[in-house]
Amino acid sequence: MAEQGGRRNLDKLVKDGLSALVFGVGYKVGIIEHFIKIKQPCTAQELAQQTGMKERYIQEWLNSMVASGIVKSHADDRFSLPYSDSELKTHGHGATVLPILSAMLPKLEAVLPNNGPRGYGYHGPFLEWWGGYHKPEDIQIWINELLLPVFDLKPSSDFKLLDLGCGYGRYTLMIAKRFPNSTVYGIDPDRKSIDEANMQLQKEALSNVNFLCVPGEQLPQEWTENFDFVILNDVLHDAYAVDGILTEVRRVLKSDGFGAAYDPPVSSYSAKLTDTDIAQLYLPLSLFSCLPMSLSGPYGEGYGVGWGYEKRREKIEKHGFRLVKVGDMDIDVVQERIVFQK
Ligand SMILES: C[S@@+](CC[C@H](N)C(=O)[O-])C[C@H]1O[C@@H](n2cnc3c(N)ncnc32)[C@H](O)[C@@H]1O
Repeated sequence: MAEQGGRRNLDKLVKDGLSALVFGVGYKVGIIEHFIKIKQPCTAQELAQQTGMKERYIQEWLNSMVASGIVKSHADDRFSLPYSDSELKTHGHGATVLPILSAMLPKLEAVLPNNGPRGYGYHGPFLEWWGGYHKPEDIQIWINELLLPVFDLKPSSDFKLLDLGCGYGRYTLMIAKRFPNSTVYGIDPDRKSIDEANMQLQKEALSNVNFLCVPGEQLPQEWTENFDFVILNDVLHDAYAVDGILTEVRRVLKSDGFGAAYDPPVSSYSAKLTDTDIAQLYLPLSLFSCLPMSLSGPYGEGYGVGWGYEKRREKIEKHGFRLVKVGDMDIDVVQERIVFQK
């Protein structure tokens, strides 16, 4: 990442930011979708006709993208977009976060001063954008690669699982569908999320799932020693009341059960963050969303993504859990998953 004797070229950085914004706009308004479908190389007029948009704006968008090296310019004023459909869809969607973060700026500006509010809750369009990364096929891959190895630690088909901080229940429902003999609970303190999850549950008509609107730090009393697995997927770094949540996880896990916390694989130590593109993606998102969310509420500790893998692990151990190595993965390597047992 470093250019010019160990330093970033700031001029290039700002221009690349503008290019990313224009690329994201092209994805959001449908120019890229039409570009994928049209016979390439095409003229600005052909693309304008295909999109139903004004040719002059399409020309300016195309030229911006030519200047940034994304669109290729050919003879006879023709243009092509030399990327695969899946690259364009993944990164086009990614770039649409820029205007969403810009819209969140007034909230961030309000919490920054010492005398400002502590934090703020989720911004709907940001959650929708994040949800766009969790297509059914992505969730299946997540289950195969990151959840099944945890299930292998305690093999049985009729397990009880708690998805703590389930959000809209996308993962909860997929797990329940994949393991019809299991009993799956999803809880979240956010009423809108649980309403969405229940609506989806009605559509899918699964009988082995229950959603409850309760905070993770106040689980039902009758759940003591109840679950074979408790998963916290993208929850701990976002949540307020992390100590309360881990205390409750310890109570509701069976003595031979397993907990698994999944968070962005970012180190707790600044010196380990240079040139790591995962940190470059997640830390800005945390500044705008995870950190203020984890500072909202009366006892938010303010962890965010920057809390990092090593310190999250220490926190889990402080709650009396033993860390469990899964497969060949060394637990000292910064990673997304932390598996633990009472
Ligand atoms: C980034 S979302 C992840 C949602 C879901 N697990 C997924 O991966 O789609 C984090 C979730 O944690 C929930 N959360 C925050 N604080 C919580 C708490 N104290 N107890 C339980 N859930 C909490 C939020 O409401 C939100 O739905």
